[in-house]
Amino acid sequence: MVKVSPSVLTADFLELEGALRQLEAAGTDMLHLDVMDGLFVPNLSFGMPVIESIKKHTRLPLDVHLMIDRPHRYIADFAKAADWLGFHYEAGSPVAETLKQIRELGCKATLTIKPATPAEEIFPYLPLCDMVLVMSVEPGFGGQKFMPSALDKLRALRAEAERQGLSLELEVDGGINAETAPQAAAAGATVLVAGSFLFSAADMGATVRQLQQL
Ligand code: DX5
Ligand code: ZN
Repeated sequence: MVKVSPSVLTADFLELEGALRQLEAAGTDMLHLDVMDGLFVPNLSFGMPVIESIKKHTRLPLDVHLMIDRPHRYIADFAKAADWLGFHYEAGSPVAETLKQIRELGCKATLTIKPATPAEEIFPYLPLCDMVLVMSVEPGFGGQKFMPSALDKLRALRAEAERQGLSLELEVDGGINAETAPQAAAAGATVLVAGSFLFSAADMGATVRQLQQL
């Protein structure tokens, strides 16, 4: 089954507890948390204090997507709350060392690539990853259009993971909806991030189940 990791980026942050209960009731598999620093991406979101509060109020595994410059400076902090901890290949941290540090701190390690980064560039790091996140929009904002070039990257990563004998989760993030989700799953994605699509769904539970059955 495909896993669903909803992004709370567009939620009302004073109603976050309500959003968490709604997502839990809808049967989502984890919770995707987008951390932005206004430097690596042209937007600011939230950081550790909000994530610590969320952790106290949900049992959903936390899937933290760091969009911050030189993320290795903050891995030890975020590892305290994250279950899955991911950073960008392009963000200026030593890639292998940072992936190893995440695992040593007891989290699952996710390596994330922007739309312009070829999948082949990260092939050498796959044995150090529990998950690879392929961005299907430029990181920074919710509600953007899915870039079909992500599909070829998912296929290339799935083939390479099989060649290396790795059981790797492949996550896709940005512009996931009823039309793009089946394409991403067919290309090898096993975790779908969904923000605007899920939060605008008439029946969130039914939508989550449809995505999980892809
Ligand atoms: C974008 C974020 C995404 C985004 C997804 O930088 O990483 O997680 O919030 O939102 P939708 O599903 O609306 O594209
Ligand atoms: Zn994200």
